[in-house]
Amino acid sequence: MDKLIIEGPTRLSGDVRIDGAKNAALPIMVACLLSEGKSVIKGVPQLSDVYTMCKILRVVGAKVNFSDGTLEISPGAYTGNTAAYSYVSTMRASICILGPLLVRQLYAKVSLPGGCIIGPRPINIHTKGLSALGADIKVEHGYLIAKTRGLKGNTVYLGGTFGSSVLATANVMMAATLAKGKTIIEYAACEPEIVDLAEFLIKMGAKIKGHRTHTIEIEGVKRLRGATHKIIPDRIEAATYMIAACATKGDITVRGANINHLGALIDILTEAGAVITKKPNSAIRVRASRRLNTIGLATLPYPGFPTDLQAQLMALMAVSNGIAIITEKIYPERFMHVGELNRMGAQISLEGDSAIIRGVKNLSGAEVMASDLRASAALVIGGLIAKGKTTISRIYHLDRGYKDMEKKLSLLGAKIKRVKS
Ligand code: EPU
Repeated sequence: MDKLIIEGPTRLSGDVRIDGAKNAALPIMVACLLSEGKSVIKGVPQLSDVYTMCKILRVVGAKVNFSDGTLEISPGAYTGNTAAYSYVSTMRASICILGPLLVRQLYAKVSLPGGCIIGPRPINIHTKGLSALGADIKVEHGYLIAKTRGLKGNTVYLGGTFGSSVLATANVMMAATLAKGKTIIEYAACEPEIVDLAEFLIKMGAKIKGHRTHTIEIEGVKRLRGATHKIIPDRIEAATYMIAACATKGDITVRGANINHLGALIDILTEAGAVITKKPNSAIRVRASRRLNTIGLATLPYPGFPTDLQAQLMALMAVSNGIAIITEKIYPERFMHVGELNRMGAQISLEGDSAIIRGVKNLSGAEVMASDLRASAALVIGGLIAKGKTTISRIYHLDRGYKDMEKKLSLLGAKIKRVKS
């Protein structure tokens, strides 16, 4: 297992280029199963989650070729219809294969995801939505077995206890493209990754309206064709570097990001004292010449502040001026990074779904352990801020969502290296 070693503190400066969005690529890869021809997906990040999805698609008979960030996917003759536990347990996004398999083959068997380090990950909204379209779904031996005689459009409400669900919206939207008649998804997620998926499906011939809102209308069609598409930039990757720049009192330019997807973060960082400027050609300059002020916030579905940035922002607040309260409204148990940041000298306590952060002037390097993808990114930011050596183990979590992070940070001036343990 690889480790990252960071010698801090660092002041980040220079340019960083953003890759395509993992969370847009994964459902779009699955959507290729709906077509009758080859699709070409460009700008796909070379990440372990993408390779896992390639394996899942091959198991169900697709021909997949991935080179230089371009994926070619042809559904092919189905050779199987199972997303096995070994894949789903490492990557919960696998659940969104359920809708496409069901509508194409009238049968799908997908492992239940089970527990997760960021808290419970139920799938009741997925099953509610697909059942409303005519799926008969039961659980046997840890697998969801879904059958149908043919999906039919319906009006489905996809809200849950914590708001809309991104991948349940993806699942139902994909299934509805080939279902008979009209589907209306109420309380749909409207994250940029859902919009990107809808745009791809439309290129394939799907009839979809309202996909930038919470009500999506899909008129089922008989067949879809293969399409060519470029994945949107990864807003979470871009935001992670922007937060790292602020935490290290740096001055960086993030290239290739979409500033329109970063509104909530830009608002928070600006209020905390950073200077953020839109530059030509999709570049964003981020400067923090002094220690920032603390800002309180709650994570919310898009366009609110994303849960996938909560940990990274907490690392920044840990060294900001004042006290901040961050409330996690999507995954109320997503706080595994708190104990590790505290080992580096942060002063963070937990009260239910909120973290109370008393900003300190410095962190100190320590041996810490990554627990999930975004928590890992928070520890990297901690390591960049901290005085001395930080060693982060279990960075396979980081490799699921950040391409070449240590290379990109090295180019920004960080002293960071990957070692085999
Ligand atoms: N929920 C339910 N029932 C369901 C589905 C979800 O109660 O059937 C709850 C969840 O427990 C959570 C809330 O609804 O409280 C929102 O979860 P959502 O379904 O939107 O999450 P997801 O679609 O499984 C995607 C991202 C996550 C990101 C969340 C929230 C992908 C591949 N994953 O997951 O990304 O945190 O949306 O924005 O798109 C990450 O990249 O690190 C990551 C975890």
